[in-house]
Amino acid sequence: MASSLHLGVNIDHVATLRQARYRAMPGASLAEPCPIEAALVAEESGADSITAHLRADRRHIQDSDIHELKSRISTPLNFEMGVTREIVDIALEVVPHSACLVPELREEVTTEGGLDVAGQIVEITAAVEELQSKGIRVSLFVDPVVEQIQACASTGAEMVELHTGAFANATGDVRKVEALRLAGAAEVAHGCGMQVNAGHGLTTENLSGLFGVRHLVELNIGHHIISRAVMVGLPKAIAEIREVMDGYLSGDEEN
Ligand code: PXP
Repeated sequence: MASSLHLGVNIDHVATLRQARYRAMPGASLAEPCPIEAALVAEESGADSITAHLRADRRHIQDSDIHELKSRISTPLNFEMGVTREIVDIALEVVPHSACLVPELREEVTTEGGLDVAGQIVEITAAVEELQSKGIRVSLFVDPVVEQIQACASTGAEMVELHTGAFANATGDVRKVEALRLAGAAEVAHGCGMQVNAGHGLTTENLSGLFGVRHLVELNIGHHIISRAVMVGLPKAIAEIREVMDGYLSGDEEN
């Protein structure tokens, strides 16, 4: 059976490479590589959505990239963003298809790295409501911790993105334990009526270790795809990861 997993391709690191050379020359006509061009190639190559993170320090994606992505791509734009007034206002202006709230400031980060939704419930609920008032679907990037998942549900967010960094960085039995944590968190999120996404550190090598996690709908993958693209080209890099993703069955296929 074909995979129902959606692939969101994160193009931040295309912009990282551009900024490495052109940071001081933002208007250069030849500023390359172009993240918008990469997004268009990714779409042609099977990406279901494009993810980009406008960081407060603008280290890779720039404001103009977000506006251009919104107007030029044909798949949904998933806008990764910190929960700050400046970036929320930009999201309200751009109106991406979805917004994934992520930690950017140290105090927003739990020990493992996801957003501390439980600890900032008032601020995050307010941001979720503001974004939703414009029709933007909201995802919260959290560690696979039940308290955090329940807090996500209480904000009214439609989705969680489970942080797979600890899983990806582990090996052997520790990785299996991390996969079990993700599976448990996915059950809780699904039980709360939220869409379950996942991302961070996923590769063709580790992805199948997630196959025991039910209810996954979307994976957001950046670093590995862009790294492979340097070696084999973006279309092939996307084809490689899709081939592995096609082995996944969510357990929700009958729905
Ligand atoms: N999802 C979220 C919320 C992220 O912050 C990132 C990293 O930008 C990713 C997915 C993609 O992670 P990676 O680049 O390791 O694939």
